[in-house]
Amino acid sequence: MLCSLCGVLFYFVVFVGAVLVFFRFWIKTLANPCKSYTCMVGKTVIVTGANTGIGYYSALDFAKRGANVILACRNERKANEAKDSIIKKSGNPNISIKLVDFRSLKSIREFCADVNKTVEKIDVLLNNAGAAGLKPGLTEDGLDGVWQTNYFSPYLLTVLLVEKLKKSGPCRVVNVASIMGKLSNVSLETVNTCNESMVYSWTKQCNILFTRELAKRLKDTKVHVYALHPGAIYTDIWRHLPKWFLLVWIPMMKFIYKTAEEGAQTSIYCSVAKECENDSGKLYAECKEIEMYDSCKDMTFAEALWEKSADLVKLQEHERI
Ligand SMILES: NC(=O)c1ccc[n+]([C@@H]2O[C@H](COP(=O)([O-])OP(=O)(O)OC[C@H]3O[C@@H](n4cnc5c(N)ncnc54)[C@H](OP(=O)(O)O)[C@@H]3O)[C@@H](O)[C@H]2O)c1
Repeated sequence: MLCSLCGVLFYFVVFVGAVLVFFRFWIKTLANPCKSYTCMVGKTVIVTGANTGIGYYSALDFAKRGANVILACRNERKANEAKDSIIKKSGNPNISIKLVDFRSLKSIREFCADVNKTVEKIDVLLNNAGAAGLKPGLTEDGLDGVWQTNYFSPYLLTVLLVEKLKKSGPCRVVNVASIMGKLSNVSLETVNTCNESMVYSWTKQCNILFTRELAKRLKDTKVHVYALHPGAIYTDIWRHLPKWFLLVWIPMMKFIYKTAEEGAQTSIYCSVAKECENDSGKLYAECKEIEMYDSCKDMTFAEALWEKSADLVKLQEHERI
């Protein structure tokens, strides 16, 4: 009896091991590094959520290319640590910090007012900041915290910088979405509703719909807009998941998932690659364009979502585009 149990256990462990090894090689084989050598001396890049994960490695790459990089972060200590590390690794001293909290519309407005006043031009705006696994709950703006962090704040931030972006053109707005947006089916009724299991996917679907609608609205300008799925990456984003789950999941993620540096490659590609400089409103993964998800094809809905978002973030008439 004991022997047959041990046998079953042995085969189970071998099976799980084989599956893990398969996924590791599958994910690593798919990984396609950005091969662009674009120099960014004299260019200005804003990276939101730049203190860690994909945002940090994107900012480091732009710094190595010689750009002036603005780290848009909420935590001053973490932002300073990232800034020091980027300066040390890149040898580029032109790295600065602007504090912004994506759970506050007031903070987004103050950040944009500051950028509009102090930054001469923006060559790349990388909307990267995001969160997952947070408990549902309203912020002081009456918006769900995950909705606000992942979708409403990047929406408001981009709209409030649009005039500056238009004057800066050719320039790029790069939105970090996710394949989770493919599995999602958001509606006007579910926008800003609290649903722990769906909210992340909904916000990521909205990032892509926003990208398409913004590209449409800016089609006669030199502002190009991109959405991307970075892949499955081992970063801090998973830290809000239940502890018991992380105990099992973290070792697996470390083994299977891409590193944050590997995960930053498509963000970098969309920000600097010459091949896509004339594209706008498209979706990318593994440093190449991919077919638009079915869930993000309805442009009538994209327009309605845009208008609803403008109302929810309380855009004034003269700020609407
Ligand atoms: N990791 C993946 O597998 C994966 C897959 C698909 C898409 N993505 C997307 O990739 C982007 C980057 O994620 P990541 O994996 O690099 O995660 P991460 O390491 O957790 O980085 C997220 C960044 O966003 C910042 N952030 C979170 N809430 C914020 C707020 N209220 N105000 C200002 N900044 C805030 C974080 O700041 P703090 O350090 O202060 O929290 C951090 O700098 C996200 O948009 C995510 O949805 C990730």
